[in-house]
Amino acid sequence: MFGHSDFGNSDLINMLTKKTIILGVTGGIAAYKSCTLASRLKDLGAEVWVVMTDAATKLVGPQTFRTLTGNPVVTDLFSQEIANLPVPHISLAEKADLIVIAPATANIIGKIAYGIADDALTTIVMASRAKKLIAPAMNANMWRNQIVKDNVRKLNEHDFHFVGPVKGKLACGEDDMGRMSEPEEIIEKIEELLKPNADLAGKTFLITAGGTREAIDPIRFIGNRSSGKMGFALAEAAAARGAKVILISAPTSLTPPETVTMINVISAKDMYEAVMKHRHDQDVIIMAAAAADFRPKITFWQKVKKDRDGLQLELANTVDILKDLGNLKNGSKLIGFAVETENLEENAREKLQKKNLDLIVANDTAAFESDSSQVKLIDRTGNVEDLPELPKKEAAHRILDAILRL
Ligand code: CTP
Repeated sequence: MFGHSDFGNSDLINMLTKKTIILGVTGGIAAYKSCTLASRLKDLGAEVWVVMTDAATKLVGPQTFRTLTGNPVVTDLFSQEIANLPVPHISLAEKADLIVIAPATANIIGKIAYGIADDALTTIVMASRAKKLIAPAMNANMWRNQIVKDNVRKLNEHDFHFVGPVKGKLACGEDDMGRMSEPEEIIEKIEELLKPNADLAGKTFLITAGGTREAIDPIRFIGNRSSGKMGFALAEAAAARGAKVILISAPTSLTPPETVTMINVISAKDMYEAVMKHRHDQDVIIMAAAAADFRPKITFWQKVKKDRDGLQLELANTVDILKDLGNLKNGSKLIGFAVETENLEENAREKLQKKNLDLIVANDTAAFESDSSQVKLIDRTGNVEDLPELPKKEAAHRILDAILRL
């Protein structure tokens, strides 16, 4: 938290450094204050992209924001300016850490609340999963209008945040409720929303990921469709929330997060050995890997040539890492995954019991290789939490929230 005099605080500069903030400016007279907001955000280290509605351009020239932010200003989805953007507007929406709309008119609030995307700003808001902050500015009677109130409530329910409005002198000359919050107050709220959540600080996590490979010969292996995305997302999310994370992964095409200790393995046996070596003193162990259940009984030392009459492979069971962890359990919370093609909940519950787990994440095979997943979280007390279909990065946070509640 900070006030007027704290703008030079170096911690805050760090907090906003490299953060991408989209500043949406709509047609309120307070648009001139958004110039101060844009330049202060930039001074604090943020990369600021301004998106203006048509009405806003009648109040402040886009050139002003262009100069203040050093970035092109988006006024129209089809303009030359947007065609020349180094990133297309949808990438901009995805890249943003936060979208702040200041000033926000009753009109933009209504449009967003009703899912209308008919200009650059509403389209970007709709396409973005970033945190969203709205700084309303309007006539007092408009702010008190039940329709506006309903829209604000609806947006609150959809995780939009609000700052202000406050009481003060309005464009119509009245001294009443509806004035946009001052830039300092808006920045204070942005800082609060971007503050990293450190609820896992001091906790240790061991997480496995990816599909193991069981060698047939030096070239060929038996594998599975796991991409490793869920395990990596969990590792990254736990580290972002302050945990110390060891990620043991079978081969994937993913870039390991810099914030975790990475251990690469290939087979289920390698994974078993690495997990057993590192399992001690872990607060939480999450087996998100698709460790193989079977391996070829014999691995050929040389490449098997094809000039033979077929090839019979005899498979042996691999060791069930999670089951062993369940048997050896002393203090760590143990989380497993269950991938099922039928009777999802029932089979997952059975695994939870059999493997002595604290929580099981059950999903069907649709999640394989996908960027999103829809999972059920089942704990020992029989509690079932049905998560909606979410990007794996968000599902990871929801799984961590559930682990924290165990
Ligand atoms: N698992 C493990 N070691 C193995 C196989 C699986 O630790 N050799 C773990 C997975 O990481 C996952 C959980 O066990 O957390 C469930 O995996 P799944 O393949 O769904 O179930 P299995 O226990 O293998 O049982 P089944 O094949 O009968 O469904």
